[in-house]
Order: sequence, then C-alpha cells, then structure tokens
Amino acid sequence: MMERGVLLVAGGSGSIGSAIARMALDEGWSVALHGRSPDKVQALVAGMAPLGTLDGFVADLREEDAAEVLVAEVAEQFGRIDAVIDCTATGPEGITGLFPETAPDVFGDFLNVSVGWVERLAHAAYPYISQQGGTLIAFVSDAGIYAAPRQTLIGAARAGTIGFIRNFAVEAARDGIRAHVISPSFVAGSASAEALGSERMARAAARAGLGLPGPEDIAPLALFLCSAGARRITGQVISVNGGLNA
Ligand SMILES: NC(=O)c1ccc[n+]([C@@H]2O[C@H](COP(=O)([O-])OP(=O)(O)OC[C@H]3O[C@@H](n4cnc5c(N)ncnc54)[C@H](OP(=O)(O)O)[C@@H]3O)[C@@H](O)[C@H]2O)c1
Repeated sequence: MMERGVLLVAGGSGSIGSAIARMALDEGWSVALHGRSPDKVQALVAGMAPLGTLDGFVADLREEDAAEVLVAEVAEQFGRIDAVIDCTATGPEGITGLFPETAPDVFGDFLNVSVGWVERLAHAAYPYISQQGGTLIAFVSDAGIYAAPRQTLIGAARAGTIGFIRNFAVEAARDGIRAHVISPSFVAGSASAEALGSERMARAAARAGLGLPGPEDIAPLALFLCSAGARRITGQVISVNGGLNA
C-alpha cells in the first residue's frame, strides 16, 4: 500500500471525522485522531487500530493554545504532518433559528470559536504542512454558501471560514500548501441529523435528487483533495448535498 503521510483529523471523533479517519487508514495514511471526549477518542482508536497506524489526541478547542498544543503533540508523535482536516462542530444553542430570537453574544462566541479555531489551527500547522506541500481542509455548512431563513448567524460565521480559506489558499500556494472548504448540508446518519429529527431529515431527503449523503460519501472527497492527484487544485469550496443546493 502507498505511504500517504500523516493526517490530522480535528473532530475525528465525530460522524464525518471518524469516517475520514477510517478511510484514510485504509488508504495508507497515518492518522492523528482528535476529539474532545477522551472516552470517545480512546474507543475509536482501539476500534481502528487494526486498520493501520493511528493515535488519539484530546483537546478542547475553547482552551487557549489548544491548536498549538494539539499540533505540537501530533508532530512530536509522528515526526511530520502532511494534511489537516478540521471536522469540529461547535454550534451552541441559538446559532440557528429566526433572527429576532437569536442573541448577539451567541453570534460573537460562535464566530470566535469556529472561525478562530480554523485560523489558529492553520497557523500552528503551517510550518509542518509547508514542508512537503500539504493540505488544509475546513468543514463548514451550506448555510455559508446558500441563503436560507433561520440560517443568518451560522451562515455569516461559515462565510467567514470560507473567506479565510480562500484567501489563505492563494497566499499559501507559494509555500506549496493547498486549502479547501467542504460544505455538507444534511448528512444522513450523523449526530446532527439525529438532533434535527426524522421529519426534517425526511423533508430534506425528498428534495435531494441524488439522495442525502452519509459521512462515507464525504470522506472520499476530503482524501482526494489531500492526495497527489489534487496537487494543482486549491481554494475550492465544494458542497456535498445530494442535489439539495447548487
Ligand atoms: N452532520 C451534518 O449534518 C452536517 C451538516 C452541515 C455541516 N456539517 C459540518 O461538518 C463538520 C463535521 O460534522 P459532524 O456531523 O461530523 O459533527 P459531529 O459528529 O458533531 O462531531 C463534532 C466533532 O467536534 C468535536 N468537538 C465539539 N466541540 C469541541 C470542542 N469544544 N473542542 C474540541 N472538539 C470539539 C467533537 O468531539 P466530541 O465528540 O468529543 O465532543 C467531534 O469530534 C462540522 O463542521 C459540521 O458543522 C455537518
């Protein structure tokens, strides 16, 4: 099997992150799987250990220096970092819903935590992913691209991440770094899908001509973008939504 290098999956204990980690191991990547809950990380690492080389890392992104400490720990453990995929989901209560019912501090906090985390992760990882021509991928949600009611706050914050990645991509290309955004909409079988409830998921599924994607439909795109086959592609924002939005 081809050696692919070291992939850090932030939020790797989540629905999409764990699917990416599993597929990455199958493809020959060494995987640093990050999550917030130590028990979850430990259980996933134990389950995936037979698939290849991986280790678990726990960090709460709300803590100061979390990105720097995480990246330093992964680099120390594996000796290099070739790709970073951020699959963390931090949405607090009140980030979606009718605008008059939302509160300014909810937005401020979400913006700081979600966009700020990607920025700090990129900053900490830069010296490593620039060494071999690596990749940074940030997950957002379709609210950042396609306007819809009840999505004002999350849409604005996600658009912030998209703006960061696109501008970062143009500049960091000079150091051999590629950067992309992957944007899901409704992801079948994910924890968020469960939280939304079966009625809303069924309505979304009825509108998605190709069928709603599951985490296993999103992982191949993320890994392709980190592969040598995508070495001349950067700054792209790709929505995986089964035909809901285009
Ligand atoms: N699933 C969907 O339907 C959907 C739709 C649109 C966009 N997206 C986006 O796709 C990405 C991945 O989604 P997902 O469904 O895989 O999310 P998920 O299953 O909820 O996983 C979230 C991940 O983020 C970690 N996390 C949460 N709070 C954290 C904190 N304070 N510090 C460190 N880590 C923290 C979680 O760790 P713990 O498990 O330990 O808490 C977990 O690893 C996110 O950006 C999400 O917004 C998902």
